[in-house]
Amino acid sequence: MRKVLLAAALLGFSWACTNNGGNSSAAASSSGETTPASGTSNASYDSLKGSGKFTHVELNPTLDSKMITAGKSVYDLKCSACHKLTSEKLVGPGWLGVTTRRKPEWIMNFVTNTDEMIDKDPHAQAMLQICMVRMPNQHLSDEDARNILEFMRNNDQSK
Ligand code: HEC
Repeated sequence: MRKVLLAAALLGFSWACTNNGGNSSAAASSSGETTPASGTSNASYDSLKGSGKFTHVELNPTLDSKMITAGKSVYDLKCSACHKLTSEKLVGPGWLGVTTRRKPEWIMNFVTNTDEMIDKDPHAQAMLQICMVRMPNQHLSDEDARNILEFMRNNDQSK
């Protein structure tokens, strides 16, 4: 499977996600695609939380402005080339609504354990088919990952 995905990513390397806002975004955001088929080899995989070191993320209902600012710096530097803050796709999916689509654990695992998650996670694989680009590991520290999550929560709250 990994080989197939890699091949797809290499062969299909194109900006397929560019300039296709509008209708096509429905494919990425429609619910229901994340339920793993039962009885597959991924049976033990937790598709809600994903796989990685984060099994429980405690969220404070009040957003932390310091973390948001730190998260924004990470976004500007490492993420903005591929992700918009709206629902529009660039190279990867737009971030609007991501904190309601995905659990905090999933987001933090995905951004720190990107390769394994793209290989294993049904939602990540569905996105890969749409985007045709594999998100590269961004080498985020745990703290960066948590700050970026706070930045995403703020983005979802303010729109
Ligand atoms: C080279 C382009 C690129 C960069 C840079 C990038 N991403 Fe991604 N990202 C993607 C693609 C493409 C996907 C869709 C999954 C896939 O195909 O790999 C994705 C998916 C995601 C998702 C899942 C979105 C959803 O709707 O479920 C999150 C969260 C995410 N990226 C976070 C980040 C963070 C945080 C950074 C910066 C630290 C970042 N990405 C940098 C390309 C990128």
